[in-house]
Amino acid sequence: MVELPLSLKTIMERGAGMSRRVEKECALFTKHIGKQFNGITVLQDINLSIYKGEIHTLLGANGAGKSTLIKIIDGIYTDYEGEIYVNNRRAQMKNSEDARLLGIGMVHQELSLIPQLNVAENIYLGRLPRNSIGLVHYKKLHENAQQLLALLNLTISTNDLVGRLSIADRQMVEIAKMLSMNAEILLLDEPTSALSDKEVTRLFETLRQLKASGKAIIFITHKLEEIYAISDKVTIMRDGQQIETLDLSIKSPDLEKNLISLMTGTEHHAETIYPGKGNVQEEIVFRIEQYTGRNFHHISLEVRKGEILGIAGLNGAGRTELARAIFGADRKDSGNTYLNGRPIVIKSPMDAIKQGIAMITEDRKKEGFIGCLGVKENINLTTIRDTVRHLLLHRRLEIQKAKKYISKLNIKTFSEHVPVRNLSGGNQQKVILAKWLALDCKLMILDEPTKGIDVKAKSEIYQLMRELAEQGIAIIFISSEFTELIGMADRVLVMNHGKIVHELRNEQITKENIMNHVFKDVV
Ligand SMILES: Nc1ncnc2c1ncn2[C@@H]1O[C@H](COP(=O)(O)OP(=O)(O)OP(=O)(O)O)[C@@H](O)[C@H]1O
Ligand SMILES: [Mg+2]
Repeated sequence: MVELPLSLKTIMERGAGMSRRVEKECALFTKHIGKQFNGITVLQDINLSIYKGEIHTLLGANGAGKSTLIKIIDGIYTDYEGEIYVNNRRAQMKNSEDARLLGIGMVHQELSLIPQLNVAENIYLGRLPRNSIGLVHYKKLHENAQQLLALLNLTISTNDLVGRLSIADRQMVEIAKMLSMNAEILLLDEPTSALSDKEVTRLFETLRQLKASGKAIIFITHKLEEIYAISDKVTIMRDGQQIETLDLSIKSPDLEKNLISLMTGTEHHAETIYPGKGNVQEEIVFRIEQYTGRNFHHISLEVRKGEILGIAGLNGAGRTELARAIFGADRKDSGNTYLNGRPIVIKSPMDAIKQGIAMITEDRKKEGFIGCLGVKENINLTTIRDTVRHLLLHRRLEIQKAKKYISKLNIKTFSEHVPVRNLSGGNQQKVILAKWLALDCKLMILDEPTKGIDVKAKSEIYQLMRELAEQGIAIIFISSEFTELIGMADRVLVMNHGKIVHELRNEQITKENIMNHVFKDVV
């Protein structure tokens, strides 16, 4: 027997002193969804109702089950318990194609584009427009793709190879691809994690238009301010369970505290997630002089002992390229490098690691971990040399180290042997962080280290960064989130069009000041 109590729901919308009844239609609902991986329950009794013209956010710590849930809705996992209804009809999808036919489109947490194909081909992959004799209609392909790029205000070309694009642009292409499907139900898994504020604003404008045209949207984010900016409802998930759904049109004074408490299952007391500024010493640990290379020019900077040096800038400002050049991952054309006052030469990441320079990269999937290896092996990747020296202790040390970081960073895994590819996106990030933290280093370069990390783990990472700085490690901290730069950095350099355009210290580090220089056009 099919009961459809959720097909039409009446909700009250309060206007200025007046109330108005608005009927909202349910686009999709789930009944008692449950899911196990290898006998371990990761979702339990999920009953979600998603309405047309609404943005419904899923919020929960890393590993809570958010991605798994929407992958079930997208037809990717078919072995689950419970039922899904789309437009009041039972939907039994066998794959993503079935979901597509039902008007469901998804943007994945892990980008799934093909680097060797161009932007237009990626957007319409498997659905290339054809002419009357069955050949690909390239003109139409590029015209259609161009329209989507224009909608998102993107300036890249439809001919650009995806492999050459920045992560942010790839993310936007992924979104364009979803839009090209004309889906009615949109599933967006952390679409903003790689985007800077400006791109997020643009994406939100598009989402508001889509919402106004009646689309139903499931949105996943770890950023609470995004929930306030765009969501109508938020469902909090914890350990595979649906904890509560809040209607955000009803104002609540303690919303942030409530959300964090519901997510973590503990009372949230902390007023701030930042540990406070540090004790920067005079001694310069690391210095570069006149670095010039692809997308960065004449960069000189120094980092002191115990200092967290923030680098602000838009995507494309040259921050990642500079960091990669310092780490020896990319070539530079010229420039000198000094560690503890001595000139050093770094030609490869191996050179950098030998000198005690660690880097956590932005593109973690590609460079950060080896998916088929376990959590333990990954955490120990950078320190294998160390442990090999004490062959007898080797295994025990590895396990100890892995356990230490699993607990320190709260990595959600059933054991240290689970292959990293089976962890949730955010927990994979934590493994990569752990890998580098386990290395004793003098300089640590962190490129967007909290991308995709839940609020609680974020504050643990901030704490750890401060601890490392207090131990005398110099830290370069690249971030697109102004608030975390303000919360963490002792000094901020602003990069714009490949140059350092400004330096901010102490009370000068404000959102207004950073924005002014980040957005200013450099001639
Ligand atoms: N393919 C898989 N095999 C085994 N376990 C998996 C697999 N995919 C996910 N899991 C487990 O299911 C749980 C939920 O993962 P999921 O990816 O849904 O979390 P999430 O809420 O999206 O987290 P995040 O915020 O980190 O992206 C985690 O414990 C994860 O380790
Ligand atoms: Mg996820």
